[in-house]
Amino acid sequence: MKHTKIKDLLNSTKPIDEVIVKGWVRTFRNNQFLAINDGSVIHNIQAVVDFENTPAETLKRLTTGAAVLVKGNLAESQGAGQKFEIQAKHLEILGDSDAEKFPMQPKKHSLEFLRENAHLRVRTNVFGAIMRVRSVLSFAIHQYFQERGFVYVNTPIITGSDAEGAGEMFKVTALPFDGTPRNEEGKVDYKQDFFGKETNLTVSGQLEGETFAMALGQVYTFGPTFRAENSNTSRHLAEFWMVEPEVAFNNLDDNMDLAEDFIQYVIKYALDKCQDDLAFLNQRFADEEKTKPTAERSELGLLEKLNFVLENNFKRVSYTEAIDILRNSKPNKNKKFNYIIEEWGADLQSEHERFLVEKHFKCPVILYDYPAKIKAFYMRLNDNTAEDRKTVRAMDILFPGIGEIVGGSEREERLDVLQQKIAELGIDEKELWWYLDTRRFGTATHAGFGLGFERLVLFVTGMGNIRDVIPFPRTPQNAEF
Ligand code: 4AD
Ligand code: MG
Repeated sequence: MKHTKIKDLLNSTKPIDEVIVKGWVRTFRNNQFLAINDGSVIHNIQAVVDFENTPAETLKRLTTGAAVLVKGNLAESQGAGQKFEIQAKHLEILGDSDAEKFPMQPKKHSLEFLRENAHLRVRTNVFGAIMRVRSVLSFAIHQYFQERGFVYVNTPIITGSDAEGAGEMFKVTALPFDGTPRNEEGKVDYKQDFFGKETNLTVSGQLEGETFAMALGQVYTFGPTFRAENSNTSRHLAEFWMVEPEVAFNNLDDNMDLAEDFIQYVIKYALDKCQDDLAFLNQRFADEEKTKPTAERSELGLLEKLNFVLENNFKRVSYTEAIDILRNSKPNKNKKFNYIIEEWGADLQSEHERFLVEKHFKCPVILYDYPAKIKAFYMRLNDNTAEDRKTVRAMDILFPGIGEIVGGSEREERLDVLQQKIAELGIDEKELWWYLDTRRFGTATHAGFGLGFERLVLFVTGMGNIRDVIPFPRTPQNAEF
């Protein structure tokens, strides 16, 4: 006889004779009430143990964390809190869990403690909920693009190019550290390395994605990306997952429309499919907010925030307008910002982004037309007027509590303009020969963006730290598990 998922039993419309449940013990009360969870749903099922006819030896082994099998009848529960329970007739301990040693005790643990036990934290309600929501969001992303005819592209993890030109890359090498071969100039001789050239882990699949868009029309990547930036913040990971759609013949406005529609779709999908988990996370969020000083509390609850994003258009604001707003803002005048905004051209810090979203506009914001100087080489230059030439067709989407969730642009499709930009930045054109070929052969307007998947999960789950929405976070000084 096969076992049934707890989710299906709890959703049952009628009592059932003889069911089998397999899962892990959460609690065992009064030698009688056994709460079991199997990960299929946030709720536990209660098994009522016939303690008079169960050996004391077995009862002793019903400890938190133990793997068990329970056979019995699914019956309407007498107690409050659950519709159904199992009247256990047969009980087996599949795997013991030493109550003294099992770290996940049935009490509130700090998120820091849980991070140190990332291999077990998924056995808690909060991490079970987060990881189920993460999985559903990931499916929603594929569904959104697949329904619209986008082709899923698997871009390489090991590359020879620096897509963002930010130089924050992890090297990939098979050369020995001791006695590294050197060339005549005394530099590391990568010709002798595995790939015969310098390689790194990808920071973005965009450049390869563009080559596919220029053949398949609409494509998207969804994979891991790596950044060796030493940012120890609650928004940065060294290994994170990015979604990167790229669409031929789209301009920046189309790109913004796509990004907004896409984000609203996946949030709606999670709201529909993860009601139990989100109800739990909504309560957790509310409890968490209560511990904060009143001024820092979120005006909206988690579910309210998610619905707000669905029901309101994202506010589209040019960089230039944003700088004016920031320059005249209270925190700028009172020198409350760590970085005071003085001049047009300043890079926006997360404090500025959050001011715009949380205090000024109070809704998601799309900033566009950024100064060329602070953006990547591939973004299309605005050049209708001389004044224009200082900006590129970039867009960033800023979210409350998160800051930047999406970065994208219309791409520079003109070969000569792109070559000039590459030369100005001192990038070796030879490294990008294949990328430039897309501009040599049938070039066309195109645009795309990158969504940081963990930042999306952070927003949807209402968690405060990005380390808590990825199974095993990689951050500076931490690669355990
Ligand atoms: O803005 P970014 O650097 O853009 C790109 O990589 C482009 N190639 C995307 C494209 O146009 N196809 O990164 C995109 C998004 C950011 O908006 C942010 O959400 C996320 O990736 N991100 C990070 N998430 C977690 N940890 C980090 N260290 C991140 N760096 C970027
Ligand atoms: Mg960015």
